[in-house]
Amino acid sequence: MANDASTVFDVVILGGGSGGYAAALRAAQLGLQVALIEKNKLGGTCLHQGCIPTKALLHAGEVADQTREAAGFGVKAVFEGIDINAVHAYKDGVVSGLYKGLQGLVASRKITYIEGEGRLSSPTSVDVNGQRITGRHVVLATGSVPKSLPGLAIDGNRVISSDHALTLDRVPKSAIVLGGGVIGVEFASVWKSFGAEVTIIEALPHLAPLEDENSSKLLERAFRKRGIKFELGARFAGVEYTETGVRASLENGKQVEAELMLVAVGRGPVSSGLGYEEAGVAMDRGYVLVDEYCQTNVPTISAVGDLIPTLQLAHVGFAEGILVAERIAGLKVVPIDYDGVPRVTYCNPEVASVGITEAKAKELYGDDKVVTAKFNLAGNGKSKILKTAGEIKLVQVKDGAVVGVHMVGERMGEQVGEAQLIYNWEALPAEVAQLIHAHPTQNEALGEAHLALAGKPLHNHD
Ligand code: NAI
Repeated sequence: MANDASTVFDVVILGGGSGGYAAALRAAQLGLQVALIEKNKLGGTCLHQGCIPTKALLHAGEVADQTREAAGFGVKAVFEGIDINAVHAYKDGVVSGLYKGLQGLVASRKITYIEGEGRLSSPTSVDVNGQRITGRHVVLATGSVPKSLPGLAIDGNRVISSDHALTLDRVPKSAIVLGGGVIGVEFASVWKSFGAEVTIIEALPHLAPLEDENSSKLLERAFRKRGIKFELGARFAGVEYTETGVRASLENGKQVEAELMLVAVGRGPVSSGLGYEEAGVAMDRGYVLVDEYCQTNVPTISAVGDLIPTLQLAHVGFAEGILVAERIAGLKVVPIDYDGVPRVTYCNPEVASVGITEAKAKELYGDDKVVTAKFNLAGNGKSKILKTAGEIKLVQVKDGAVVGVHMVGERMGEQVGEAQLIYNWEALPAEVAQLIHAHPTQNEALGEAHLALAGKPLHNHD
């Protein structure tokens, strides 16, 4: 479609990451005229600096570990080391293939794609490349970037963010990972697999502190076994350069030295200087505030993805983008249940969950109204074959539905699909126990956990 000044689009979308492009694709599918504005590369953080490249690195790490451990499976192999350039070539190949596919998809839906840095100029327009792009609706989807701490400068060399870590031209001999959240534990896992000595510093009492405490403890046990060190309940005090690297100090007086330090203390919204406040959009600490339909206080402006204070996950961005497109097209939409969003942390072992933790359930329903059951992967044939340890823990409201599924173990991320159906369809343990799970799969462990919760455990030892 012609992109002249007189065109009034149905939707103008600022930002072509997961949230923005999902909104664009769905809106176009519904027959709306869409303009999508992106300053960098279509696909955003997920495709270029997040989900996809990091999971490629994690997979390379898994191959390295399997090579080292091959003898334990009767396979003769010698691990000679990591060719980091070849790892990057593999990772970049995955990204570029998906990038081409996505570009083709956007073009095929007749979306007007505009490359350039846009700025909201009114409740119904975005200025980009000296041009005003006008729409009945505007969707803000400008995403997030790595955050740092006050006074902590990221130099891109010895003190780095996840963006730098993704393109690092070497495997560090040793690394400090500041922050034991999702990015922290994933990079700690990759670097350990690649042969680095890793120490995580986490201010809260556990790694992956947002997960059920049982999952955090299992992850800590597995990391300890892998030789990944961590300091928990340890607040970071500062970092200084040494002759060969960095020395981090903790508030408890401890010091840790390494070749470099990755700062993984969260990601913050990209919103400053983009005209949002000037257009009257309500914000909080840089996040754009929205209602349950992703609409801001300015009726023509919606916002999705990492820019709004919901879970910073690509699949949440997709869902919010689709919701906004459908609402603008006049369809009836249902608000997202954020507890029902599946969450996977792709370290080794993986941590996967959906629903609420035991602690949250007790807070909501009362201590005596919450029932839990666990199934240890030691009793699961396929997990034994893979030599992975871990557990599935279920949280149930007494005599009611399963409200939390928490899993730790290699490949357990792949089990979250069924877990999310169980949570979102408010399944009763007895209903899931009735369903037959294929043997021998890891998926079977999810079935066994429900058999236990339904009062008829099969391979449980307790
Ligand atoms: P995060 O919020 O998950 O973790 C940051 C951690 O740093 C927290 O545990 C926090 O307690 C700790 N921290 C903060 N200040 C500290 C201090 N002064 N000293 C010590 N520890 C401190 O943020 P992260 O890991 O940077 O990830 C950003 C976002 O990206 C998250 O929302 C995450 O969900 C998303 N993401 C998702 C992935 C996935 O779904 N697999 C992968 C990577 C990122």
